[in-house]
Amino acid sequence: MRRFTRRAGNVAVAVLLVTGFAALGPAAPPAAGTNQPRIDRDVFGTMPDGTAINRYTLSNGRGMKIRVLTYGGIIQTIEVPDRRGRTGNVALGFDNLTDYLERSPYFGCITGRYANRIANGRFTLDGQTYQLAQNNGVNHLHGGNVGFDKRVWSATEIRERDTVGLRMTYTSPAGEENYPGTLNTTVTYRLTRNNEIRMDYRATTDAPTIVNLTNHTYFNLAGEGSGTIEDHKLTLNASRYTPVDTTLIPTGTLDPVAGTPMDFRRPTAIGERIRNSFPQLVIGQGYDHNYVLDRRDNTFRQLESAGTVLDPSSGRVLSIRTTEPGIQFYSGNFLDGTLVGTSGRVYRQTDGFALETQHFPDSPNKPQFPTTVLRPGQTYDTTTIYAFSTAG
Ligand code: GLA
Repeated sequence: MRRFTRRAGNVAVAVLLVTGFAALGPAAPPAAGTNQPRIDRDVFGTMPDGTAINRYTLSNGRGMKIRVLTYGGIIQTIEVPDRRGRTGNVALGFDNLTDYLERSPYFGCITGRYANRIANGRFTLDGQTYQLAQNNGVNHLHGGNVGFDKRVWSATEIRERDTVGLRMTYTSPAGEENYPGTLNTTVTYRLTRNNEIRMDYRATTDAPTIVNLTNHTYFNLAGEGSGTIEDHKLTLNASRYTPVDTTLIPTGTLDPVAGTPMDFRRPTAIGERIRNSFPQLVIGQGYDHNYVLDRRDNTFRQLESAGTVLDPSSGRVLSIRTTEPGIQFYSGNFLDGTLVGTSGRVYRQTDGFALETQHFPDSPNKPQFPTTVLRPGQTYDTTTIYAFSTAG
């Protein structure tokens, strides 16, 4: 569709041809000059070393707006309309850089080099053992002490015919956080006219290494700071998940969700079974699990639906498509009332959820899981789309 509109040279004609006449109702493209996609930039704050952190505001001219920081590639806000057209910010975050620097539980950021956990922070590649930071009990989490979420990224604005975006780059030197290989990383965010955030992740290396990148946005589709997400209805296209030990490292098996409170194959309120005594929910203090997506394409090149979330009160719907084999469903278990969010309200347990598309946790130590090894000459290449709509 995007490619077609570019060639057609006239958005109205393309919409008519592709989607038929009905689409020319309220969704018809606005007159030139009004409601056009745009990018604005301001300075969000300054790092202790004096580096300015820019904030880019991307608007799609259709009522959707996102704000992105060069610090951590953080998506600070996501403004989307509800079923009545009222706009709300559905991403948890902070209104100032200091809180991101000092106390963020990975709000909105790019996580890497290895999103999620590696057991004991240790892995062996080509016969060589690497010891990474043990920054989550005995385990390694989200790239270590200073992961990609705490790096300053370079941003280039993208303006395409009907889409605005940001190309974020970061070169991680060999040995940073003890990972081998120089990793040249590009994460591209695009905000489309169809209320989608498209995220393309690319990386290359000059020596064998491991990589697993994702975005760690916490959502509350009723609006950040509005209370619990336990009434949100979640659907996950996953018949299996990776059960974990008491330190949240996968045991290595892929267990069926059938007959357990882990089953979200049909739309189910997140809170419906969250206090069940099922051992996995006790260990995770709620949901903090990697789901194995039911995919047709197991080469991980095609975008396939991972799941959807509906907030019955606002009618907002988040649909996720990804090339990745897994998705971490995290129900905001560690939010404990100590953080004050963007609009000045405190975040408590289950006030937000994350759905992190990814390769499985601890894959470097689990040869039976899809590989996370990247070698020179190969390109790490994954895509995830967060699409917003309304229902009811
Ligand atoms: C991921 C992990 C959780 C938690 C959050 C950040 O989702 O799986 O256990 O660490 O990040 O708080």
